[in-house]
Amino acid sequence: MLCGRTNVNKFLIEEQRRNPALVGDFSMLISDVVRSCKAIAQGVSRGSLAGVLGDEGRDNVQGEAQKKLDVLANQAFIHHCEWGGHLAAMASEEMDDIYPIPADNPRGKYLLVFDPLDGSSNIDVNLSVGSIFSVLRCPENCSGAAPGTDDFLQPGNRQVAAGYALYGPSTMLVLTVGNGTHGLTLDRDIGEFLLTHPNLLISPDTREFAINASNERFWEPPVQRYVSECLAGKTGIRGKDFNMRWVASMVAEVHRILMRGGVFMYPRDSKDLSKPGRLRLMYEANPMAMIVGQAGGLASTGNERILDVQPTSLHQRVPVILGSRDEVERIERYHREHESGEDQPFRSPLFSTRTLFRVD
Ligand code: AHG
Ligand code: MN
Ligand code: MN
Repeated sequence: MLCGRTNVNKFLIEEQRRNPALVGDFSMLISDVVRSCKAIAQGVSRGSLAGVLGDEGRDNVQGEAQKKLDVLANQAFIHHCEWGGHLAAMASEEMDDIYPIPADNPRGKYLLVFDPLDGSSNIDVNLSVGSIFSVLRCPENCSGAAPGTDDFLQPGNRQVAAGYALYGPSTMLVLTVGNGTHGLTLDRDIGEFLLTHPNLLISPDTREFAINASNERFWEPPVQRYVSECLAGKTGIRGKDFNMRWVASMVAEVHRILMRGGVFMYPRDSKDLSKPGRLRLMYEANPMAMIVGQAGGLASTGNERILDVQPTSLHQRVPVILGSRDEVERIERYHREHESGEDQPFRSPLFSTRTLFRVD
């Protein structure tokens, strides 16, 4: 009773023993990240009582209005992770440029990339939000001069660890260090995350999808085809009825998929042709792709696996289709069939009238 579940520190040390490539102070680095998430969980749960809701009054580098909690959560990550000597630099959604570890602190071997508060449009209406993080190794040349942006531009398949905290009815931490995906729940009485969901597995097929349907007219044809087939239900070619969900918080959507399967899409769309998607590669798509992949699911742009995308800039956006393996593979096939013209019989006359999706 008094010494029940595995706590996060024991879990991390056991993972590190299993994988000698996780050098030195790796588990302590993740402990600092966990501490940041606990501080954010505290702020999120107190909400109005802590005076943390509402707008910050300025835009971030993406041109999106920052919430007070976006900024506070960003500060929490910096405060808890900059002094331990495990990191060489950090980067986040809420910082225009990378944040090298200040010269008066020792510099470590890892890079941390994070979305301090994901789904922040939900914060003022008291719905689920989260934090997402990704750990990369600092390339060799990092150890000399201060790291630069280029050191961060590594494909997701080079991530050492990835995780998210979900600030929902209970606060959970979902983590992978390349050996499965595992869920821990915050026990507020003792202030520790305890292992409650070891070895999460995403069922390969599903009857549930998540997409912001208000963008339908902007979606690319393979996604329009997939969703219309789901909506056709039992009488359509899928021969089964589907359910739809949209929380507008990627952390919450991915968590639901880890718990009961499903597919999540924020595909390429023609809303703003300068943006190849809504979500950011380095601190949203890549960590979620590793988490989902380690749980037996898949993550794709539709044309290539997310983890293979070579980043070209820190805040780059990317189309995201992730979740149950069979569904993601189906949507990838629809992309191939669209490119080769094999999907002609499925095309709505609507698509050929738009410039982006013109097929003639
Ligand atoms: P963030 O709050 O970090 O900017 O991310 C929000 C993202 C993601 O969590 C969610 O899936 C999506 O934006 C919601 O988009 P819509 O506003 O189009 O629903
Ligand atoms: Mn986000
Ligand atoms: Mn965010």
